[in-house]
Amino acid sequence: MIIKSLELADYRNYETLNICFDKGTNILYGNNAQGKTNILEAIYVSATTKSHKGSKDREIVNFNREEAHIRTYLEKEEAEYRVDMHLRKSKSKGIAIDGQKIKKAAELLGLLNVVFFSPEDLSIIKNGPAERRRFADMELCQLDSFYLYNLNHYNKIINQRNKLLKDISFNPELKETLNIWDLQLISFGSKVIERRELFAGQLCEIIEGIHKKLSGGKEELVVKYEPDVTIDNFEEKMKENQEKDIRSKMTSSGPHRDDFMFIVNGIDIRKFGSQGQQRTAALSLKLSEIELVKKITKDTPVLLLDDVLSELDSNRQNYLLNSIGDIQTIITCTGLDEFVNNRFEINRIFKVTDGVVDMLSENVNTNIGIG
Ligand SMILES: Nc1ncnc2c1ncn2[C@@H]1O[C@H](COP(=O)(O)OP(=O)(O)O)[C@@H](O)[C@H]1O
Ligand SMILES: [Mg+2]
Repeated sequence: MIIKSLELADYRNYETLNICFDKGTNILYGNNAQGKTNILEAIYVSATTKSHKGSKDREIVNFNREEAHIRTYLEKEEAEYRVDMHLRKSKSKGIAIDGQKIKKAAELLGLLNVVFFSPEDLSIIKNGPAERRRFADMELCQLDSFYLYNLNHYNKIINQRNKLLKDISFNPELKETLNIWDLQLISFGSKVIERRELFAGQLCEIIEGIHKKLSGGKEELVVKYEPDVTIDNFEEKMKENQEKDIRSKMTSSGPHRDDFMFIVNGIDIRKFGSQGQQRTAALSLKLSEIELVKKITKDTPVLLLDDVLSELDSNRQNYLLNSIGDIQTIITCTGLDEFVNNRFEINRIFKVTDGVVDMLSENVNTNIGIG
């Protein structure tokens, strides 16, 4: 699938924008704080209804406006689609596909699949479990609307249960209602666990080969799901922890405490890996994500690379750029130097300056040198 064009109105620092992408590699370059990431964010919102940064609609709408619009034209299996989004500061967003309003975000998911890669992703192995859960959730919510449904319900119930735990300290009789919440929590939570387990297995199959190549044949990487509770002991754990939860006013166990293990040659690299090892594994993980999306959707996702190239050494840059293949890619960077030494074809270059985008050139070969 490819994004043909993107139109913005009053979206962050864009008053209006109309940008047509090539089906190959597109570069957006410019100084910091000019609006490069904002463009990638708008594409991510078009695909998932949410900002990759977790920003609220009211933060996305231009400071001086009340509403913003995003229009995306995409092509998928030779059909064209138009996705319209209407973001408002004080109400939830409106979404339409080809002019038909949709009621639920789930109806949009699957139309446009994107893989977003930012410098923070390179710390995913080093960082805490929340980051790794977020990675899994961001991908699974795009790929599986059933997962999205179960996760949303699970999160809602956790919030309500935590609120109830607080209320119990003022009104102990409420304790009786806790079991009803727990049953629901276990029901939705078990489905989340089941899908994450499958996800880890699917990733693991793909990542092994990628990481082996990336590490020059030296490293064997295994990804494993590390659930906080299993489907079998979930109920027991909830009962066991009830008193503790009431005292701490927090739900102490469940998939909101899950993690994913990354093991290289038998060593848990979350704790014992070198920085370089952790970053290489993170790159393998992102590359595997692309392959997994291809496999599951039987289509190519759009790859959004936000300022990551400058974070990688030239070997890894080359590896990344060479493994992109025939996927539409939109890359942001502050300079074009990082491409000059790569045998790598760029199809379109845009310069981004303070919320204005100019197309500079088309079909350039970086070997002839630009910069
Ligand atoms: N809601 C908003 N309204 C107007 N400008 C915004 C809004 N949110 C962010 N900005 C501006 O967008 C710019 C940052 O854009 P960004 O895409 O992150 O830049 P970069 O080119 O470094 O990726 C900043 O100048 C910031 O002030
Ligand atoms: Mg940026």
